Amino acid sequence: MEKARSRSPALCLLLGAGLTLATVTRADSLIQGCFGCHGPEGISAAGSMPNIAGLNFRYFYAAMQAFRKDRRNGTIMGRIAKGYRTSQLQRMALYFGNRPWTGTRGEFDPEMAQRGSELHAQYCEKCHKQNGRFQDRETPPLAGQAKGYLLHQMSDYRIAATVMPQPPLMQERLEKLSDADLRALSEFYASNPEADAQAPPRSAADR
Ligand code: HEC
Ligand code: HEC
Repeated sequence: MEKARSRSPALCLLLGAGLTLATVTRADSLIQGCFGCHGPEGISAAGSMPNIAGLNFRYFYAAMQAFRKDRRNGTIMGRIAKGYRTSQLQRMALYFGNRPWTGTRGEFDPEMAQRGSELHAQYCEKCHKQNGRFQDRETPPLAGQAKGYLLHQMSDYRIAATVMPQPPLMQERLEKLSDADLRALSEFYASNPEADAQAPPRSAADR
């Protein structure tokens, strides 16, 4: 229970309501249903499916609610999220969110990743700090996230008309980028530049 000190108020509230981590195990059928697409334990093996293990607990929960209420675009997650009650989404968030981010270092093109690194520094590092490794309750990690998934998400976010809640500043910046720029950025995040860094990937204050 070494993480108890840094638990967020929301998490404490859930735990206080009798929902303990012990009640959410991998045998839980709720969780099993996610592995088929998101990989065993939520660590994706397919480039088009996001890793979900270790996403910030609150980001995870907000994403599921956004899918459920059609406030976030998706090919499949809208339908999936609608099949669950709030308490079930909370259990999922507890299970996947209560562990370190397990971003992977995938194959990448070094030249494109270099170009992506420059674009990232200019347009994205302000929020997606630590070369995209940072995450908090609002900001998902990019470094080590599945490459195809990120590329798809960036293309979606770039279109203003698409239903994607996002900070206006991000939209403005993405609009300036070409398809080739987005590919370069996805190669950069696949290179997971700070994978070996010692620093914890998210701020303790936010857990
Ligand atoms: C049939 C395949 C499939 C299944 C099953 C599935 N997902 Fe997903 N998930 C996706 C896809 C594809 C996306 C990208 C958004 C979209 O297109 O709907 C996604 C996106 C997500 C995201 C957003 C990740 C991010 O970085 O913002 C979360 C969170 C998530 N899924 C959680 C779950 C959970 C929890 C379950 C189990 C209840 C689950 N998914 C089951 C395919 C699936
Ligand atoms: C003003 C802060 C800000 C800036 C600048 C910004 N982002 Fe984001 N980004 C966010 C936030 C906040 C989210 C989460 C949105 C949500 O709630 O769904 C996000 C989400 C994303 C996602 C979705 C990840 C996932 O797991 O689904 C991608 C991809 C992304 N940003 C890429 C970029 C890129 C590339 C740039 C630079 C061109 C950029 N962002 C600039 C704040 C920012």
